[in-house]
Amino acid sequence: MNKHLLLLLLASYSVLTTFAQGPAAAADILIPKPTKIEAGEGYFTWTPGTEISIPKNARDLVAHSQLLKAFWGTNTPPAATSNRINLKLDSKFPSSEGYRLSISASGIDLTAATPAGLFYGIQSLLQLATAGRESNTLTKIAAAVIQDQPRFGYRGMHLDVSRHFFPVAFIKEYLDMLATYKFNYFHWHLTDDQGWRIEIKRYPKLQQVAAWREETLQGHARNQPARYDGRAYGGFYTQSEVREIVKYAQERYITIIPEIEMPGHSVAVLAAYPELACTDGPFKVATKWGVFEDVFCPKEETFTFLENVLSEVIALFPGKYIHIGGDECPKTRWKESSLAQAVMKTNNLADEDELQSYFIRRIEAFLQSKGKRLMGWDEILEGGLAPNATVMSWRGIQGGIDAARQGHDVVMTPTQYCYFDYYQADNALEPLAIGGMLPIEKVYSYEPIPAELTPQESRHILGAQGNVWTEYIADPADVQYMAYARMMALSEVVWSDPTQKEFRGFAQRLAPQLNHWQQQGINVANRLFDLSCSSRGLPSGGIEVTLKNPIGNGEIRYELDGRDPKPNSPLYQEAMLLEESALLRATTFVDGKQVAPVAWMDIYHHLGIGAKLSLSQAPANRYLSLAPNALLNGVRGRNNRFDDQEWIGFDQGHNLVALIDMGTSKPLQYLQLRFFHQPGAWIYAPKQIEVYWAEDEAGQQISGPVRMDINSPLDQVATVRVPLPKTTRFLRILVPNAGQIPAGQPGAGNGAWLFVDEIEIH
Ligand code: ACM
Repeated sequence: MNKHLLLLLLASYSVLTTFAQGPAAAADILIPKPTKIEAGEGYFTWTPGTEISIPKNARDLVAHSQLLKAFWGTNTPPAATSNRINLKLDSKFPSSEGYRLSISASGIDLTAATPAGLFYGIQSLLQLATAGRESNTLTKIAAAVIQDQPRFGYRGMHLDVSRHFFPVAFIKEYLDMLATYKFNYFHWHLTDDQGWRIEIKRYPKLQQVAAWREETLQGHARNQPARYDGRAYGGFYTQSEVREIVKYAQERYITIIPEIEMPGHSVAVLAAYPELACTDGPFKVATKWGVFEDVFCPKEETFTFLENVLSEVIALFPGKYIHIGGDECPKTRWKESSLAQAVMKTNNLADEDELQSYFIRRIEAFLQSKGKRLMGWDEILEGGLAPNATVMSWRGIQGGIDAARQGHDVVMTPTQYCYFDYYQADNALEPLAIGGMLPIEKVYSYEPIPAELTPQESRHILGAQGNVWTEYIADPADVQYMAYARMMALSEVVWSDPTQKEFRGFAQRLAPQLNHWQQQGINVANRLFDLSCSSRGLPSGGIEVTLKNPIGNGEIRYELDGRDPKPNSPLYQEAMLLEESALLRATTFVDGKQVAPVAWMDIYHHLGIGAKLSLSQAPANRYLSLAPNALLNGVRGRNNRFDDQEWIGFDQGHNLVALIDMGTSKPLQYLQLRFFHQPGAWIYAPKQIEVYWAEDEAGQQISGPVRMDINSPLDQVATVRVPLPKTTRFLRILVPNAGQIPAGQPGAGNGAWLFVDEIEIH
């Protein structure tokens, strides 16, 4: 967010608090939303005389009272009255992590069954004292009775410190944010191909070699040719730093789950200890992002190494789970290795998936002998789950469903809702991200229990987690930007009562929270006023354009001729019908000030708008809801992004086979098709297309094949025009997928993707 916008938001919230004349109500502030809030009369005021009473012998609670004192101690104006804050443990309180807060002018009673419950009550108090408030009201809290308890016992956030390394001070800030929003698990992704980040005393080359890479890829991994920065990069946490972080987390009731990746994502280790690979090496710590074929070889030496590493890890982390990765392990080397094949034979393993399962089971047996439980990504289902494994379902929800049905515990973290490395706004100004699109309202809409599960099975869904992979997130400010706002949305998914979930209400509570963090210098993303634009072809031939921002507030103003909107530009009130081409530019204004970047949508009117389009071969799953409308809505897929809600992707071996029915016969001149071409993303423009016309569905060929020439392997959009010297009602278009990816290109040997948008008829 720019400074201008920040000032504006600050101004609007101070107006809000001034009008409110005192502290804002709990119902307008707290995230995650508590189970129940009853507003009271008046407010509690912290004074120098305020006493905090804690039960005798409750040593944990001394720290709790210090949290409050540390917060209020310096903010305290002199006052004549005195009052009390009572912290009480009550073993009969019905929820182990829940709490009850009773706030009145005479004092605050905070009751819970456990110190953790009291800690969450204090987090609520601190939010009430800070969020969206002027500093002179920080000592006041509006009277209320709050009953609160979490929905799920697993409320997690993850951070990848391998792709980029983050200092101890930032890890502590991250843990503070988790605590504020009542998360209780931190999944610390400590090892990967691009760097090993935890000191293991027995293996010094992990620190000397595996923790450092020669240089780092610049730009997106899909871009060709690849560019590097030429600068060495790395680092690791010493065991003493790890202990310090573990203690810091414990004080916040957060359990850390360390992840040591195996058998894949292990190139950094192989660079240090090449004898653990199936081939001779040498290997180097990866300098680009991706999945690598060199993985741990299932040798006795490898198991000895991993058990020694895990022994040191286990000694550092008191929590019950150890995450062993298990994701994205190519089996190429195992297929070619006589040693791996011999292990399969000796152990009666049918294929390399079973070999991976054997690998994970051995590690699980070791962890269990040390009193720990194994957690792994959903690939550990392949070849058979280890007996007591807990599964993290990331490739969608099917892994979670399968594991729960097999009686295994599950943490849901599907990419579609939980990957905070995806874009959060469809805006050319966004920092480069890995791809995908996950706006905050989509995170908020997530329901972790798959509808497919019976109530019995769904008891295995422990909760959900947000993942922060850091290929494109290089420093703390980037993590703040990508993770924190969406983390707040997820906190409500995992903590709050789902029957009370409501995005607008959440967004209204989010605004003062974001405002608070911005005042603290934290780079949280505020995309609440960003517009999303969508367009739909109508049977009449017109285009319906809808504009909205997630919070539903502010005035949306637009221009249709490519100029930026001004405070006096036309006001958008409801879906607009456009009968002609237009260069739509729109943004949100509050009190005459622009509060979001200008969103744009170029609309190209053509004769196919509103025509009936049927596809005989379905696009890939994630494009099913966009097609066919996106292909005939007057909006072209963007030149530089294929993940923009317009481009429609067909995966391996699937072709575009489209029948367009325009309803009546129309005189036509040409058909224009656009294809995305980005070999680094396995996306290839087709080599040819064929077009048929007809007055009935039988059709006659009018062109084809038209050969497409894509001479450069570099990223581009290929446009093809086919003359249509006919008056016709039906068009049939056949675009074969480019087929197998050629040798030497990323993904060689796999099937290519075909991406198309728009199909224009003129
Ligand atoms: C993953 O995103 N590879 C778990």
